[in-house]
Amino acid sequence: MRSIFNVAATVLGLTSTLATASPAAKRGLPLADGFPNPNPTQLKQIQQNALGTLPNGPPPSNISSDGLVSLRLVAANELFEVAFFSDLLNNVTQNVKGYEIAGNNRDLVIKSLTAVLAQEELHALNANNALAHFNAGPIQPCKYKFPVSDFNSSIKLAATFTSLVLGTLQDVIKIFAERGDVPLTVGVASVVGQEGEQEGWYRLLQGKVPSELPFLTTSTREFAFNALNQNFIVPGSCPNINTIKLTAFQPLTLLSQPMAKTEPIQFSFQKPATGTDNLKLVYINQQKVPIVEDITVVKTVGSTVTIQATFPYDANEMNGLTIAAVVGGSGPFQSAQDVASATKFGPALIIIN
Ligand SMILES: *[C@@H]1O[C@H](CO)[C@@H](O)[C@H](O)[C@H]1NC(C)=O
Ligand SMILES: *[C@@H]1O[C@H](CO)[C@@H](O)[C@H](O)[C@H]1NC(C)=O
Ligand SMILES: *[C@@H]1O[C@H](CO)[C@@H](O)[C@H](O)[C@H]1NC(C)=O
Repeated sequence: MRSIFNVAATVLGLTSTLATASPAAKRGLPLADGFPNPNPTQLKQIQQNALGTLPNGPPPSNISSDGLVSLRLVAANELFEVAFFSDLLNNVTQNVKGYEIAGNNRDLVIKSLTAVLAQEELHALNANNALAHFNAGPIQPCKYKFPVSDFNSSIKLAATFTSLVLGTLQDVIKIFAERGDVPLTVGVASVVGQEGEQEGWYRLLQGKVPSELPFLTTSTREFAFNALNQNFIVPGSCPNINTIKLTAFQPLTLLSQPMAKTEPIQFSFQKPATGTDNLKLVYINQQKVPIVEDITVVKTVGSTVTIQATFPYDANEMNGLTIAAVVGGSGPFQSAQDVASATKFGPALIIIN
């Protein structure tokens, strides 16, 4: 008894010494480099790690209320990404089980993740600085959860949320343009390319062709907001995410592993009070008109409904990111925004090839 206790105490003691001795081992936000509130010296270091600087031109003097919603969503999403890449970089540098990388590639992975982390920090600071400039409260970090515990799964997850961001920023740019926020479009377009470069690397690490599609899948702010909220944020941990005025959906769980072929796939969700008769499954893929499919209820166990719908791969060359949502009504839907406006459950994210 006694010796077991002593061993356990030693292990615990060692762990806590390591945790306090190495700032890199600290998890979550704020980071050891001062983010999200770095002082000027810390910001200089972040910019060096990011291989470049924040934009320094004068921001516009006015912004639409929808423009503020977009900046808040971008800030919230980038804060999550900073927490994710900081944790991933820490796992790789500390050789956490499942994150050991053998050979020469390890140095390039650490160098690349160090740059990505700092680049995401600057994306978040840029959005929050703009909010502060417009006297809108900057978004504060939440507590996050990452449903992965090995390097390959972590990279696959990074590729998935980055794909969704690449779709969502298309919507952000469009809404800036529509609402008179044209000066904000160019910086966001520069980030689309930046995240696309990251995406190519995550794909290469998975043995995939770096360039995903001829025209990347489009998304909306609602799908990004709900993906973030449902999957990565510890419920109740956000100081001011309630300032992001976007519609919350119920989760849609993908039960199948879709392949590059046309076949039925299954999803589940919590049974709605209004029943399932009027529901359809919609897929958003590339820059195509949303695809509407009928659903069949496979079973209902307790309050969980399992449905089936065709994944129409062959007729649509449905590679890359597909956003699936269960909507009320049968459409037809002209745009991803039309789908988001009718969505009850979603998004579920599928990436083929
Ligand atoms: C901001 O001001 C400019 C110049 O007056 C105007 O063209 C633009 O529509 C305004 N944007 C918003 C969002 O009010
Ligand atoms: C880092 O490793 C821990 C322990 O396996 C894991 O729980 C966490 O999700 C990992 N983080 C990332 C971003 O992969
Ligand atoms: C991780 O992915 C790479 C690239 O696809 C593969 O070669 C490697 O075997 C995978 N490692 C594990 C542990 O699955």
